[in-house]
Amino acid sequence: MHVITDFDWNMKNSLLLVDDNEDNLASLKAGFMRSGYELLTALGGVEALAILRERDVDVIVTDLRMPDVDGMKLLESARERRTPPQVIVLTAYGTIESAVEAVQHGAFNYLTKPINLNELRLQAAKAMELQELKRENIALRREIDQKYGFEELTGQTREMMEMIERLRAIADTRATVLIEGESGTGKELVAKALHKNSSRAPKLFMPIHCAALSDTLIESELFGHEKGSFTGATGRRPGMFELADGGTVFLDEVGEIPLSTQVKLLRVLETREFLRVGGTESVRVDVRVLAATNRILSEEVDEGRFREDLFYRLSVVKVTIPPLRSRAADIPLLVEKLLREFSSEHRRESVILSKRTLNRLMQFPWPGNVRQLRNVIENLVLFSSGKEIEIEDLPPELLNQSNDSITVAVGQPLDQVERLIIEQTLISAKSNRTKAAELLGISRRTLLRKIKELGLEA
Ligand SMILES: Nc1ncnc2c1ncn2[C@@H]1O[C@H](COP(=O)(O)OP(=O)(O)OP(=O)(O)O)[C@@H](O)[C@H]1O
Ligand SMILES: [Mg+2]
Repeated sequence: MHVITDFDWNMKNSLLLVDDNEDNLASLKAGFMRSGYELLTALGGVEALAILRERDVDVIVTDLRMPDVDGMKLLESARERRTPPQVIVLTAYGTIESAVEAVQHGAFNYLTKPINLNELRLQAAKAMELQELKRENIALRREIDQKYGFEELTGQTREMMEMIERLRAIADTRATVLIEGESGTGKELVAKALHKNSSRAPKLFMPIHCAALSDTLIESELFGHEKGSFTGATGRRPGMFELADGGTVFLDEVGEIPLSTQVKLLRVLETREFLRVGGTESVRVDVRVLAATNRILSEEVDEGRFREDLFYRLSVVKVTIPPLRSRAADIPLLVEKLLREFSSEHRRESVILSKRTLNRLMQFPWPGNVRQLRNVIENLVLFSSGKEIEIEDLPPELLNQSNDSITVAVGQPLDQVERLIIEQTLISAKSNRTKAAELLGISRRTLLRKIKELGLEA
């Protein structure tokens, strides 16, 4: 049997009657007295809107011509609801044109005055029926989304299942979420999944790579600028928060945001309002904010590089993605998925991994996590297509783990250890700083700063 969870079959169908004339409203009400519907009445459009702000209704019967908020406006705001009610408009003989227009804008039907109550009851019953079907459909679709919406996050270990369970619970809320995890664990993937499984899905998902923006440009990138606010600002430009209105902003590597910008970000999170650079007028947006960091943000707070108030604001909900090495049981599943993906993308025959090879992959510590695994698998498909892969065929960094290890002693000063590790990682990454930063799980910018501080430039 199929159980639909968030649809209440016993719920009474509700009917909202709207007319600005008291006598008309009373006779409409009398006409539905024995209908069995839950009856609501509103004396005019303003009252009707107030009711709709409070609750859902299934069907609205409304007069078209009313002062202030007329039937057309009511229809418009009804259509914007998550489960839009069916609307039947009532119109006097002279205004049939606008009634037809109402139907073109999504009204269920229109009836001309004087109202034939039998006909109206019949139409209302039909509208109720359609609404029930729609509600059922929406409930089903939600259930399907909840079951399958996170399929891109491959993983079957308990840690991953628990994380996905948490994600599901908070996906369709406005909660700010801080996503923590080492480099390559899937932070952006998680952020996208949260967006896709929310009612903001039709609107923009706007990733902002905070580390890639220079300190001078970051504010104008985030909040936009007014014409002439700085040299080169030749016109007004909206920022990313403005562009993402109605959608989701993803602040990647949020720990890299300079302190001066952090204050402004805090204000946006608190009020959803900001000023464009050089502007005086507040801009209001409806965005959900997700943030990611591959550092321990609380440590950044302790060291005075990140504002404590912003940290608390961001981490209302915290999701920590486990590193790949702590969920090795997911590796076979990931490998299988990646082999399929890359052989179809590159139109190559897949490869076969020997048992020993797969074991080696499961034992490897994967400092670059899923991203590193992806790279390895893509290379195998590209360069060894059709072959059976033995351990010897794996890329060198997976073979001689011992060559890449260094010894440190208990009590050795931390700055020395840091220097050693950075030095060795740079050597093993053949001085490729982007790659070294990735291996170390820090941003390129942080690495460059450390290289400078430790005098490792040569
Ligand atoms: N659980 C997973 N299942 C399938 N693919 C995954 C999973 N986790 C990560 N990936 C893939 O690994 C790659 C890296 O993921 P992503 O870019 O989201 O990581 P990240 O945590 O944002 O990394 P960084 O800290 O370096 O920015 C992407 O190609 C992503 O699709
Ligand atoms: Mg990322």
